[in-house]
Amino acid sequence: MRVLLTGGAGFIGSHTAIVLIEHGHHVVVLDDLSNASEEAVRRASRLAGVDIPLAVGDAGDRELVGRTIAEHGIEAVIHFAGRKAVGESVAKPLEYYRVNLGSAIATLEAMAEHGVTRFVFSSSATVYEQPGELLAESAPVGIDLPNPYGRTKAMIEAIVADASTADPSLQAAVLRYFNPVGAHASGEIGEDPKGIPNNLMPFVAQVAAGVRERLRIFGDDYNTHDGTGVRDYIHVLDLAEGHVAALEKLEPGVLTVNLGTGAGGSVFDVLHAFEATVGRELPHEVVARRPGDAAVSTANPALAHERLDWRTTRTLADAVRDTWRWQERNPRGYAG
Ligand code: WQD
Repeated sequence: MRVLLTGGAGFIGSHTAIVLIEHGHHVVVLDDLSNASEEAVRRASRLAGVDIPLAVGDAGDRELVGRTIAEHGIEAVIHFAGRKAVGESVAKPLEYYRVNLGSAIATLEAMAEHGVTRFVFSSSATVYEQPGELLAESAPVGIDLPNPYGRTKAMIEAIVADASTADPSLQAAVLRYFNPVGAHASGEIGEDPKGIPNNLMPFVAQVAAGVRERLRIFGDDYNTHDGTGVRDYIHVLDLAEGHVAALEKLEPGVLTVNLGTGAGGSVFDVLHAFEATVGRELPHEVVARRPGDAAVSTANPALAHERLDWRTTRTLADAVRDTWRWQERNPRGYAG
């Protein structure tokens, strides 16, 4: 299929582009590069051995999305575009609603105008009102969430459901990511956060690289096996493969599935995996809990296994090894 990836220059989009091409699909990327680099698309093209056209622009611009769809004969859209920093969303709610909801609505409208009915949406486990262990898709989702970022994702899920009710020909998949980590095994592409990383894995990678002085562990008094927060760390290539499976199994209506491993890893598990990979201890200190953090957030991935015939195959150790290779070879990310 000829697939448009909005926000496709980002961490998950660039990895998904490669896997789509490996499965015989044709990929076009639309990205405003506000939180991504053109270099990521160049490297993904090189790794895939196929040119990936890049349209630089705003996925909230319905005309632009429509022109891109028409120009490239697009048959399906995977919508990654959007702001994704939880903390920033609390400080800039209006920007998050404008950008995240605006780009989803503009993309769906452009698709309708051009008769494109296949849509995969990049959602998140942050839509669950009560994080916990082995969360199923039936767990309560709403807008009573600790941050506007998660609320935008829950609202877009509702928009997709309403669009499907209005147009039964729409074939949609909503993918609720847990914690995406890792990098392509080549070390050529990976997560390239701007500024100080909010997320654990890139932060530990920068400590290991000497870019950051020490890891601050946000609390070790949670009710978990070692007191630190437990999350479902899913390798970005497993996640990318989940997108291809969802795309290839689209049917009329909306299928919502968790993309996670079903296994939990603690902050110490990640730290110790990194220390084993680099062969030395990494400086760290336990500090106060981060407001809004849950003790545990892991997926029940059974529905994805069943409906997509997909399951993760890579371990946390694989993700740490791949992250370190990317970090070591690209200490300044795509900035070179
Ligand atoms: C993981 C664990 C922290 C940093 C994110 C966001 C969002 C989502 C992915 C898209 C927690 C601990 C972290 C640090 C630490 N993306 N930690 N020191 O909070 O599960 O959520 O998931 O939807 O980005 O919702 O991910 O990586 O920030 O934290 O101790 O410097 O690591 O307390 O237990 P999180 P995270």
